[in-house]
Amino acid sequence: MHIVVVGARGQLGRALQGALAGHRLSLWTRPEHDITDPAIADAVAAANPAVVINAAAWTDVDGAESHPDAAFAVNALGPKYLAEGCARCGASLVQVSTNEVFPGEPGTFYREYEPLGPGSTYARSKAAGERAAARMLSRLYIVRVAWLYGPGGNHFPGKILAAAERKGRLQVVADEVGNPTYAPDVAGAIAQLIQTGRYGIYHLVNQGHASRYDWAVELLRLAGRSQIPVTPISRADWPRPAPPPAHAVLVNQAAAALGIRLRPWQEALAEFVGRMQPEEDTDPTGEMP
Ligand SMILES: NC(=O)c1ccc[n+]([C@@H]2O[C@H](COP(=O)([O-])OP(=O)(O)OC[C@H]3O[C@@H](n4cnc5c(N)ncnc54)[C@H](OP(=O)(O)O)[C@@H]3O)[C@@H](O)[C@H]2O)c1
Repeated sequence: MHIVVVGARGQLGRALQGALAGHRLSLWTRPEHDITDPAIADAVAAANPAVVINAAAWTDVDGAESHPDAAFAVNALGPKYLAEGCARCGASLVQVSTNEVFPGEPGTFYREYEPLGPGSTYARSKAAGERAAARMLSRLYIVRVAWLYGPGGNHFPGKILAAAERKGRLQVVADEVGNPTYAPDVAGAIAQLIQTGRYGIYHLVNQGHASRYDWAVELLRLAGRSQIPVTPISRADWPRPAPPPAHAVLVNQAAAALGIRLRPWQEALAEFVGRMQPEEDTDPTGEMP
């Protein structure tokens, strides 16, 4: 199958290259393939693939608050143009979205059919991208993921390990809960999903959920750094321009019905740590709550 991967340099884009290795892949990156350019629709139509997977996005959640037009251009107009190109050549589209389209009420577990309630500019732009793609194209898979990490990415586990090295102790938010999700597992599930032809909305997260504190403690344990003290703090102690939803926990109901299952988050994290440990491939640029 000819598949175009858009945003091929991102952490999901890289993982997709591995999961789709048996296919004919076109790997699109910017500036040659900028999804904010309406001409991207012409490029899709000319490439005439069977499937386009949009792994490109504005992912700076806090930065979207001060750059809403730029965030909407990438996250809402980009999917619209890609869907338009797919409609012209008969391709299907995988539009990747986020758990943050939900309000994240404590105690709620979000299945695919729940009403949206995006709380930040980033989340509104992603919800707008879902709607825009759906208006243009029926051969559409909307794939919502959460708390993504994987090789080569700028992610929470990398920041936690770097901060542990630098400071010797950590404070991590304990009242923000989500699904830690390994990008290669999502990529593998997308590879299965596009074979089904069963278009619609899918949640694809590793099984189970955790607070950021739980995630950090398990990560340090797996990395042999359990001696690092971790103090639980609350979201209020770590103010952000775009306060994240407290409990935007996804349930993969639709994928499970097709027999597509992702393993528990702890198993995926153990594999990630095992793979990264020899080269200590962490990003020392910052720290996340
Ligand atoms: N990361 C998470 O925790 C998380 C959580 C929920 C949902 N998601 C969603 O999952 C998807 C994949 O996220 P990710 O973590 O893999 O993102 P990522 O690592 O930040 O990669 C995003 C990619 O998009 C590319 N991009 C940005 N603007 C573009 C444009 N105008 N035209 C073409 N490409 C552009 C970037 O290009 P450059 O390499 O040139 O910068 C980058 O390679 C996104 O839809 C995101 O919203 C992510």
